[in-house]
Amino acid sequence: MVGDPHFPDYFMHKLLVTGGSLLEGDVYVSGSKNSALPILAATLLTRDQCVIHRVPDLSDTNYMTQILASLGAHVERASGTVMVEAEDVKSEAPYDLVRRMRASICVMGPLLGRTGEAMVSLPGGCVIGDRPVDLHLRGLEQLGASVSVQGGNMHIKAVEGMGGREVNMRGKHGSTVLGTDNLMMAAVLVPGTTVIEGAAMEPEVEDLANFLIRMGAKIEGAGTRRIVIEGVRELHGAEHTVIADRIEAGTFLIAGAIAGKRVTLRRCCPEHMTAFLKTLTDSGYPVTVEGDSITVSRADNPRGGEIRTEPYPGFPTDMQAQFTALYASVPGISVITETIFPQRFMHVPELNRMGAQITLEGATAVIKGVPQLSGAPVMASDLRASAALVLAGLGAEGETEINRLYHIDRGYEHIDDKLSRLGANVRRVKA
Ligand code: EPU
Repeated sequence: MVGDPHFPDYFMHKLLVTGGSLLEGDVYVSGSKNSALPILAATLLTRDQCVIHRVPDLSDTNYMTQILASLGAHVERASGTVMVEAEDVKSEAPYDLVRRMRASICVMGPLLGRTGEAMVSLPGGCVIGDRPVDLHLRGLEQLGASVSVQGGNMHIKAVEGMGGREVNMRGKHGSTVLGTDNLMMAAVLVPGTTVIEGAAMEPEVEDLANFLIRMGAKIEGAGTRRIVIEGVRELHGAEHTVIADRIEAGTFLIAGAIAGKRVTLRRCCPEHMTAFLKTLTDSGYPVTVEGDSITVSRADNPRGGEIRTEPYPGFPTDMQAQFTALYASVPGISVITETIFPQRFMHVPELNRMGAQITLEGATAVIKGVPQLSGAPVMASDLRASAALVLAGLGAEGETEINRLYHIDRGYEHIDDKLSRLGANVRRVKA
């Protein structure tokens, strides 16, 4: 299985990227990681079989299937399709699996909905900054559940009279994606009408809602700030195809902008990518959208830009590192401000090792474009930071050696194969 850190030598993989190749061809976009994870968790809400298609082969989705199995579900996986049958479910998620992936917390809502109780470890520190869970817990409490945190575990219990409430999910950085998911999954089986105010509007939240609706849930307004859920007695099995991964698509778009003669993304959802397609166009890159395909190539006269990350439909934090890599070698000054995870700049010192001229002023990166980066050994630190280093390597002179490749396998399905097919000179090797 790709990216399974249970193989002892897996952590030793690195990627060698030799810059200078012109990329040309088509890339088939995979299913969205951030949709697939909560959708897999939602299969716990029924004892019937659920069939999920277009689940990307990633270490994160592998962790999620292992968590489902450890909770008692029967899970089968074959080329992008995952079948889950959760006839009996335990309410306690094992620490050893949960600690490996923060997104494991999205089993909390389904466990509470299905069993009336959820015991899940508190997620630990995260390299992209402080990632609290207060809004998840506050939301479930407002729904009427009792919440306690003890011995590193969150213990959530349904209490008499739970449901039919108005719940506010807004926090100081906007809403929360997985928090909205958790609440929606808890509320579908709770009696009465739950109204989620300040809900996250991300397409992945809407995809989860569509799956829940297929299972028999009554949900209106997903994809807007206000979601209304009418509790039902039980859900049934359903089949669903996960939406395209807008962040994987965006990452390959940047590959095309840095080194593309012509790169065409197939089977993507351009309507989910409006903010960063506009940013790319404003910077002078030729972008054409036709149905579910997008084509991009290098620009004759690219120019820097100004970006501020925001909740959807604004510019996504998950594309910030990749645009930093692009602007590192675009003439002029670019400015990128991170408002969602203000410390998410682990890629900056590594890009500077490749010759970039980026200075950090709090949560703002000021990028002075240089004519060309140069290859160097660099360290991947988190998923999107690693992607940024691969992208920088495509346009750099010489070889870039990206260590700790397991970060990238958390979120990019077969990235080395996909880049190779475009003509990039990339090799996965054992360190
Ligand atoms: N926040 C709180 N309290 C909470 C939850 C969140 O203050 O209880 C804050 C966070 O610290 C952050 C903001 O709210 O400042 C938004 O965080 P959110 O909860 O929306 O993040 P998440 O749901 O944990 C998902 C994605 C992330 C993506 C963010 C923001 C999944 C599995 N993860 O995380 O994806 O960056 O939304 O869009 O859906 C990635 O794919 O690389 C990735 C990190």
